[in-house]
Amino acid sequence: MISNFTFRLPTKALFGKGQIASIADEIPKTARILLTYGGGSIKKNGIFEQVQSALKDHFYIEFGGIEANPEYETLMKAVTLAREEKLDFILAVGGGSVLDGSKFIAAAVPFNGDPWDIPYKKVPISTALPVGCVMTLPATGSEMNHRAVVSRRATQDKLSLYSEWLRPQFAVLDPTTTYSLPAKQTANGVVDAFVHTLEQYATYPVNGKIQDSFAEGVLSTLLEDGPKLLEHPTDYDARANVMWAATQGLNDILSVGVPGDWSSHAIGHELTAVYGMDHAQTLAIIVPALFTHQLEAKREKLTQMALRVFHYQGDIHRAAEFAIEKIREFFEQMGLKTNFSALGIDDSQFPLVLKKLAEHRPPFIGERKDIDLAAVERILRMVL
Ligand code: NZQ
Ligand code: ZN
Repeated sequence: MISNFTFRLPTKALFGKGQIASIADEIPKTARILLTYGGGSIKKNGIFEQVQSALKDHFYIEFGGIEANPEYETLMKAVTLAREEKLDFILAVGGGSVLDGSKFIAAAVPFNGDPWDIPYKKVPISTALPVGCVMTLPATGSEMNHRAVVSRRATQDKLSLYSEWLRPQFAVLDPTTTYSLPAKQTANGVVDAFVHTLEQYATYPVNGKIQDSFAEGVLSTLLEDGPKLLEHPTDYDARANVMWAATQGLNDILSVGVPGDWSSHAIGHELTAVYGMDHAQTLAIIVPALFTHQLEAKREKLTQMALRVFHYQGDIHRAAEFAIEKIREFFEQMGLKTNFSALGIDDSQFPLVLKKLAEHRPPFIGERKDIDLAAVERILRMVL
């Protein structure tokens, strides 16, 4: 049975070519803007000029240098700047890391106390600066969701914060901004969006027909158009479909009323914190192993996926295994690795990964809360 749910999606999507110009109308003229960005890609691909031109009648101060897997120490410098300059609106221009970092800044500026308590002790957020974004990397869905993931390298922590205050007011989604993505980042984004969808779909059936068919549409779109982008990075339609798929993959529309897994993400965040692996790369390794480990618990939905997404016509008792194999093949097709040895990683740090997981999560994870630390270790060892 579908669980009760409340659903509200307030973020305004501004989708298509040339939409960066519309931010001028979305941000109040009186706003004092903190313009955040990453390592400089926006200054090489023409996006920064478009933002500058849109903001010609606005006041803004730039803050660049937000890293992939945004770092607490860097973000706190922006918090200090925003407090000193009394900035009251954040415009994030970049990928998920810039936007997530900006959401953390937005929550930290008015926060009374140590802002690290927000992700670490899960202290609730009672207010935040408004955030808008120009999303340049389809992957995280952060542009329309209420979460952010931040890292603290000194303590090897990578943690999430959640609040409706963090949902962006608007999201510019111009597919042409993604033409300049390196193939690896395009692939990472496709795989991340695909796994977000799986985390909400490949669980157990509750007869959520809209959620299921919508998820199957997102998965099929990523399977079809993701690989095209590796060959044709300026295929507008493929870029557009992948961009909208990534947004739908994690804006809560797929998750309402249905169970969620999220154990691949839980394990993946610890792998990034310990080994510095790209987020999507952790997922490409974990998902096929975790699904194999959880095969019986997930069999019904994986069978459904085999039939509806992969158009499987063989023995129905082998359909779930077929789906897992196709998922693994897809990750490899996108150029990601599906075992640790291909990345030169051995098991020497697994104890630390498990220790950090135990520090950050409840003892049982997964949609049935049946995955404990011993199971996680088995899963990790399956893909050495
Ligand atoms: O920093 P710059 O110079 O901008 O370069 C970035 C970065 O090096 C580059 N890039 C982005 N857009 C580009 C571009 N290069 C050329 N052209 C463009 N148009 O790509 C690199 C990676 O960027 P990043 O923002 O780190 O990637 P992504 O969007 O995949 O974000 C990953 C982060 O999001 C978190 C991940 O854990 C990770 O920290 N996630 C956030 C979620 C959320 N908020 O809901 C959910 C996800 O599961 C995920 O955990
Ligand atoms: Zn993800």
